[in-house]
Amino acid sequence: MNETLRALLVASFEGDQRALEIDQFKTTAKRALLNSTADELANIFVLSSFLSGVCTSLDEKAWNLRETEGAFTNFLDGTLTRELSPLAFLGDSLRREPRKQLSKKANLIALTVSEIVRMQPADPLFQMFIRATMNEMDKLTRYESRYQTESEWFANSLYRAFDEMDRILGVDYAHDKNMKTDLNMKERLYEGAGIGVQTSYISVLLALEAIQPASGSSFIDLGSGYGRVGFVIGLLRPDMDFIGYEYVEHRVTHSQACADRAGLSEKVRFITQDLSARDFAIPVADVYYMYDPFSRETYEHVFAQLKKIGRERAITVVTKGRASGWFAETIRGEKWATEPMCDEGTLGIFKSA
Ligand SMILES: C[S@@+](CC[C@H](N)C(=O)[O-])C[C@H]1O[C@@H](n2cnc3c(N)ncnc32)[C@H](O)[C@@H]1O
Repeated sequence: MNETLRALLVASFEGDQRALEIDQFKTTAKRALLNSTADELANIFVLSSFLSGVCTSLDEKAWNLRETEGAFTNFLDGTLTRELSPLAFLGDSLRREPRKQLSKKANLIALTVSEIVRMQPADPLFQMFIRATMNEMDKLTRYESRYQTESEWFANSLYRAFDEMDRILGVDYAHDKNMKTDLNMKERLYEGAGIGVQTSYISVLLALEAIQPASGSSFIDLGSGYGRVGFVIGLLRPDMDFIGYEYVEHRVTHSQACADRAGLSEKVRFITQDLSARDFAIPVADVYYMYDPFSRETYEHVFAQLKKIGRERAITVVTKGRASGWFAETIRGEKWATEPMCDEGTLGIFKSA
């Protein structure tokens, strides 16, 4: 990591409250960040996001161990060589101040980086930064998922850690603001539900790690919302082709604009489509994804098409939420393999023979 940025991170944790006045911190950070390369920016953004996720777990641990002298320090010494080794350079600061200030400072750094990146001219730094960031996020996700199985303590610290990526990519859920709710509508369009009904960036990365799509694979998100799944695939796997079908037109226009700005137009497409329409056939692809998009009736219509495609060629279906149980039910008796659920049981993976 860039030494100036590393020093900045350490200083921000060591500094007393007054030295950390937000404006002063931002001025110093801005100077250091504006002189950084795209890779360095990606590195500091991902690390500070990781740190803010981890801080919640550390805070709880420090509280649980508060009555035993030296217990938290011993715990930290161990974890800094294993689960938390990417943060080893912050060891002294973490030992000195294990409680709440940490996540506040880490959030501040992540926020500052994203603000500065958004101020940059669009190219080439922006596109280099977002690609580098997605690669760093992927590395950290793999690292964390390995330790999650080995460590009793290491919870899913990254689950919401990268939500800030939305702001960097320009995703704005306020586009739902004037959306009219049609009470007779049979589909579930999640008006105004925003970030809470989009798959976490980490879950998309974990799904890709679990299914390992071959080079050149095609991927379809059925009900693509504000486009997160497509952004991850476009940035991390430029060899793949992505299509997201979404009922709500303004979400499609907005996610396509974000994808275009990110330099993904060639490989990432969002299309307005009601997937319950009987005159539309879902195209053949290698992987399909669904996060709770449909009414029961539309699920049946969509599942019937996926089963038909699955009888003719090998496909993978990744499901999140209620879609998992329903898809498992629908393929009972067919020649499909059900892989172990991934992402702490939130993602289902099904492969046709
Ligand atoms: C829970 S969101 C998931 C968004 C995205 N796939 C993700 O995981 O981040 C489900 C999306 O499916 C869309 N949807 C619901 N019914 C649909 C239909 N019949 N055709 C196309 N999209 C639909 C909703 O508008 C919503 O944006």
